[in-house]
Amino acid sequence: MRFLLLIVAAVLVWGGATAQQGLFGLEDYSGAELYQRFCSSCHGDSGRGDGPVAATLTVPVPDLTLLYRRYGNRFPADELRESIDGRNLVIAHGPRSMPVWGYEFWWEDGADAAAEETARATITRLLEHIRSIQDI
Ligand code: HEC
Repeated sequence: MRFLLLIVAAVLVWGGATAQQGLFGLEDYSGAELYQRFCSSCHGDSGRGDGPVAATLTVPVPDLTLLYRRYGNRFPADELRESIDGRNLVIAHGPRSMPVWGYEFWWEDGADAAAEETARATITRLLEHIRSIQDI
């Protein structure tokens, strides 16, 4: 009997996990949640470039709270979108340490035309989050 209960419990846990994978896509995450999930390992919880992975990289991870100041007191949304997406960046700038998120999000969402929209909207929500943490 106890064994049976164990099997039932295992199936419930497994079912819950798969249901979650099916039900929660990128569009279900807020900008802050996306940031925590994909960016904070390097850029840090508060965006200051001090995530646990930053120490393992040979290049410095930029402080995302200083972008407004660094770009002459304006939030450079277009440039940052290009930088996060990464698919249009010229290789001549040298190797990139950050993942190519335009590709990652597109792939994660099924790699079709609809996924292109989701990738764009995902980056828009990330930009809104980064805008909200600017040290002005
Ligand atoms: C593996 C570590 C890593 C992760 C994860 C990461 N980044 Fe980066 N990021 C970097 C590094 C390093 C740079 C500096 C440019 C380079 O070397 O690629 C950078 C640069 C940037 C820039 C350009 C800032 C500037 O100075 O103009 C933005 C914006 C940015 N990241 C946003 C994000 C967002 C949003 C995410 C999550 C979707 C993310 N990063 C995830 C490492 C990371």
